[in-house]
Amino acid sequence: MWKLVFLTYCWLFFGSVSVKGLRLLQSTTLGQDPQTVNRLNGESFQQDALVTFNGYQYAVFWTADASNTSVRHPSVSRRGLQGSSGWETFTLSDYDGTDDDGHDVISLGISQGDGTLHIGFDQHDNPLRYRVSKTGIATHPTINPWSPQIFGPTLDYLPGLESLDKNVFFINVTYPRFLSIPTGGRKSDSDLLFEIRVGRSGLGDDWLYRYTPGKGWAQIGRYLENHDMDYAYSHNLGETWMNNWNQQIANSSAEEPILPVSAGITVFSIPKYGGILNQEAQTIDAEGRIHVLNRENTTGVEQWYHYWRSTATHWTRTVLPPPSNLPSINNITGTPTVIGKRGKLVAPRSGGEALLAILPSNAPNATALSIIGSTAQGHFRDWKVLWEAVDGCVAEPLFDRYRLEEDGVLSLFLVNGTMLQVEDFEL
Ligand SMILES: *[C@@H]1O[C@H](CO)[C@@H](O)[C@H](O)[C@H]1NC(C)=O
Ligand SMILES: *[C@@H]1O[C@H](CO)[C@@H](O)[C@H](O)[C@H]1NC(C)=O
Ligand SMILES: *[C@@H]1O[C@H](CO)[C@@H](O)[C@H](O)[C@H]1NC(C)=O
Ligand SMILES: *[C@@H]1O[C@H](CO)[C@@H](O)[C@H](O)[C@H]1NC(C)=O
Ligand SMILES: *[C@@H]1O[C@H](CO)[C@@H](O)[C@H](O)[C@H]1NC(C)=O
Ligand SMILES: *[C@@H]1O[C@H](CO)[C@@H](O)[C@H](O)[C@H]1NC(C)=O
Ligand SMILES: *[C@@H]1O[C@H](CO)[C@@H](O)[C@H](O)[C@H]1NC(C)=O
Repeated sequence: MWKLVFLTYCWLFFGSVSVKGLRLLQSTTLGQDPQTVNRLNGESFQQDALVTFNGYQYAVFWTADASNTSVRHPSVSRRGLQGSSGWETFTLSDYDGTDDDGHDVISLGISQGDGTLHIGFDQHDNPLRYRVSKTGIATHPTINPWSPQIFGPTLDYLPGLESLDKNVFFINVTYPRFLSIPTGGRKSDSDLLFEIRVGRSGLGDDWLYRYTPGKGWAQIGRYLENHDMDYAYSHNLGETWMNNWNQQIANSSAEEPILPVSAGITVFSIPKYGGILNQEAQTIDAEGRIHVLNRENTTGVEQWYHYWRSTATHWTRTVLPPPSNLPSINNITGTPTVIGKRGKLVAPRSGGEALLAILPSNAPNATALSIIGSTAQGHFRDWKVLWEAVDGCVAEPLFDRYRLEEDGVLSLFLVNGTMLQVEDFEL
């Protein structure tokens, strides 16, 4: 089962460059990765581990307690992107995470209107765990000292929605995700979305909430019943949803979610046990094309596939070229397995023509990482290797989608051995 719904905002930029190469600008260390069996940092569904806003980059991750490594605490870092100030980090040691569970990631969101930081964390079918900072933290970063005191307590509800029954709406929560919405500086508009799955795997529904500075959270509604490989989009922050033919198929506030049987949403039917993996990668490029990375074993060989929707709404599915057609130190496109590490897709802002795939090797015990690129002129079939490392990627690679918009730098969040690192690339 594979759900495909876009919690990706389409920013429009103009200009065109072709895929040339990537230059590593710098590599920095955030801290030590807790030595758990399951990965707590670096999971493809962590939206987001890195967020840039207003000249600062923020990172969230788990770190082990100094005196008891069975206990992990949320840590929050920031750095100014101008100059070379390095990371400032504090740990929320009033919260103990003890489950060694790879779902229990930390996700960060920022309200650009009031400068609040929001984190959702330690969620796998349990009551909501959410914290919000004071206002002004991200809008006036030099005024506020970087310390745990900027955050309020751990809440099991969203402020503004005290009237909702916590035991219905904020229980059995998994996959907290945020998305900042640029509002052009209008503080009266909602500028942050929050999505959670409520109910366990296979039976869960996805709910959307929106944050408005000065007002707090409001519920948009239940917009999705989990099932299948489908496409739908929304132009009003998830209130109503359209299919591939621009026909309305769902209204979240009216309790009419997207259903597996909704008309015009199935893009490609892939049989059950077709070798697909949930939550791999999606992005939207500068021309508004939708790109999806996943994997299939419908031919007897597990391979990575690129699915994309043209500006004329036409969908294409192509297999990433096998290693014999894409010389790579890591033979990267020959490695995918059904539950191997997931990759990411990046559409650089000034590169309306370019698409990057960040692929972690799925070969046994490998920690190799390759970045490959293709162009619109080449119909996204002209994949070339742009950068490779033979080791250094233990978990799933993440990137800062907001920094790409802010200064065009690609910041990767990697677990490299036992260290949490951020690698910055010039595109
Ligand atoms: C470390 O924390 C775990 C989980 O809370 C607890 O069971 C254990 O007793 C602690 N160990 C020590 C030495 O305090
Ligand atoms: C849902 O949450 C309740 C309360 O935390 C818990 O008792 C129950 O086991 C959870 N159900 C599932 C399926 O996780
Ligand atoms: C969605 O549902 C709400 C609540 O029933 C209703 O007020 C609104 O008009 C509906 N929107 C559309 C576009 O159908
Ligand atoms: C792909 O499918 C074939 C045929 O069913 C199977 O033999 C092979 O093991 C599968 N590959 C992976 C990586 O699961
Ligand atoms: C890649 O494939 C070549 C040719 O088959 C082989 O010599 C090389 O060892 C492979 N490299 C990796 C990292 O698997
Ligand atoms: C992978 O690592 C495990 C644990 O260290 C080891 O038992 C296994 O042989 C390794 N597999 C390969 C293919 O190197
Ligand atoms: C991982 O860390 C090692 C040691 O610091 C470094 O040499 C290597 O370049 C890093 N790998 C990546 C992919 O950043």
